[in-house]
Amino acid sequence: MTELHQRAHSLSEDLEDALPAEILEAALREHGDQVRLAFSGAEDVLLIELLHQIGRSCPVFCLDTGRLHPETYRFIARVESHYGIRVEARFPSSDAVEDLVRRKGMFSFFEDGHLECCRIRKVEPLRRELAGVRGWITGQRRDQSPGTRSRLAVVEVDEAHLGIDGQPVLKWNPLAGRTSIDVWDAIRAFGAPYNALHDRGFVSIGCEPCTRAILPGQHEREGRWWWEALDKKECGLHEINLPPPDREGS
Ligand code: ADX
Ligand code: SF4
Repeated sequence: MTELHQRAHSLSEDLEDALPAEILEAALREHGDQVRLAFSGAEDVLLIELLHQIGRSCPVFCLDTGRLHPETYRFIARVESHYGIRVEARFPSSDAVEDLVRRKGMFSFFEDGHLECCRIRKVEPLRRELAGVRGWITGQRRDQSPGTRSRLAVVEVDEAHLGIDGQPVLKWNPLAGRTSIDVWDAIRAFGAPYNALHDRGFVSIGCEPCTRAILPGQHEREGRWWWEALDKKECGLHEINLPPPDREGS
């Protein structure tokens, strides 16, 4: 076990029963200004709300794939004005997107899976973003994806992303132990903004073509990449959640 793995392990053990705001404090203490919060949805707005409540802040970025719903762009703008922050947009390489669309059209993911498009539109921009930091904060929860997130630690070594000095970054999941109900109770209690799509049956929201509303009783993950197997539903942002044979680099 490397020193970094030992550090992540001991932070995770210490913080397992901590409040999400305490975990956010610990991330900022650990990394100073070399940590970023990855923003896409309900969980992330709660993290911004908690930072706001404890009088702390951290740079926030969103991977703008160019395929998000109009409601998501409006939601981002509302979050910015509500908290007086900028959610920095990170875009994919225009050359790579043009090449993909020229070769395979706009909806290749329905034919041969989401990995190639996600790699170009999300994974590569994330790799660039994390190259300049030592840690990142996500809104992942254990109950979010039974196949891939049930063993999520509060702090992990993200072997898939190299940060400053070529060291793997630490990945912080302050909501790991919280449920969807906890998150929504908090959003309502704090009056935090949320994506208008949630009022129309959407739960887990990604890109427009690859996300759909779910029916009562369906797991939230069933609304994402619904044409693919439930235990493979990671786009590469969270590659370390997959067993090694399923990782892109393997
Ligand atoms: S995904 O990999 O399947 O798309 P999911 O939607 O469950 O991820 O979100 C889990 C966490 O990943 C979010 O709370 C957020 O921290 C991060 N994330 C997901 N999509 C984006 C995005 N487009 N931009 C920035 N962060 C994202
Ligand atoms: Fe492409 Fe769909 Fe992945 Fe978005 S979620 S990057 S549209 S495959």
